[in-house]
Amino acid sequence: MKMTAPDFERTIKRTLAAAACALAAAAAAAAGDAPQTAPETLTPEAWAKTLKAMPEGSFIAGAADHAGLFCNSCHGKAGNADSEHYPSLGGQPAEVIIKALLDYRDGRRSGDARADLMAAAARPLTDQQIANLAAIYAAGKLPAPREAGKGGDAALKLVTKGDVSRNITPCAACHGVSGRGNPNQAVPVLYGQGRNYLEIALKQYRDGTRTSDMLSEMRFFAKELTDEEIAGLADFFATHEGLAGK
Ligand code: HEC
Ligand code: HEC
Repeated sequence: MKMTAPDFERTIKRTLAAAACALAAAAAAAAGDAPQTAPETLTPEAWAKTLKAMPEGSFIAGAADHAGLFCNSCHGKAGNADSEHYPSLGGQPAEVIIKALLDYRDGRRSGDARADLMAAAARPLTDQQIANLAAIYAAGKLPAPREAGKGGDAALKLVTKGDVSRNITPCAACHGVSGRGNPNQAVPVLYGQGRNYLEIALKQYRDGTRTSDMLSEMRFFAKELTDEEIAGLADFFATHEGLAGK
């Protein structure tokens, strides 16, 4: 039987809900105490210190945890998700993964069902495990786009030129021009990322449910974007490996 889009949505929602319950129960058992109130967004200074204090990651231990902690059930066998609803992790700079997992674990990235699900998955992780997981994902590569070249001229313009009238800096100025990423300030790679994940992330920033951006820069740009622009930008990054030749 062929799945329709609404069937697929329902299946994803059911899977998410079931996994959230199991993870929340496991995390509550592991933590053993009441949840803390959410700390503030990291400052760049606090982040630099935190990063410096992280242990060296082990690729082999990271591979074992990726499977052993069931990260692979949503993020795919090699860190690249089969569903466009889940982020692919292969090829992200280690700094991006470390920051994301610390943000989830320590209560700085929460506020909707999806982030809460990841927060539950991250809560039992030690710093060493986070370093190990970052080592294995950083050694991977984001998937080649399934389709090429979507998003249109309006998205290309926002990516390469921004929009001075709305103070939007070109996305590529921070996110780079290739799929290799930019570890400075833990800026994630977007080229080849799952389309729906990109769209959801931009809406989380726009709605203010995601507040993990240290300089509020993503919240600032996203609040200027229309639904149509967000959809175009998600198409653009999901279907380009980089900007070579643009
Ligand atoms: C039930 C599905 C599920 C499981 C299991 C899961 N994740 Fe996730 N993960 C998600 C979703 C959904 C998001 C996006 C959440 C959001 O909107 O903030 C995410 C986000 C992430 C991110 C942030 C990516 C980015 O670009 O910011 C990292 C890193 C991550 N997961 C790592 C892990 C690790 C490591 C494990 C295992 C310990 C794990 N995940 C287990 C579903 C899952
Ligand atoms: C001034 C630098 C800067 C500019 C310009 C910028 N970003 Fe970002 N972006 C960031 C940083 C830093 C993060 C990570 C923030 C965090 O930790 O939540 C980020 C995160 C994101 C994410 C979430 C990725 C993930 O893996 O979860 C998306 C999607 C995104 N940006 C899209 C865009 C788009 C589209 C544009 C252009 C309209 C843009 N960004 C412009 C710095 C920038």
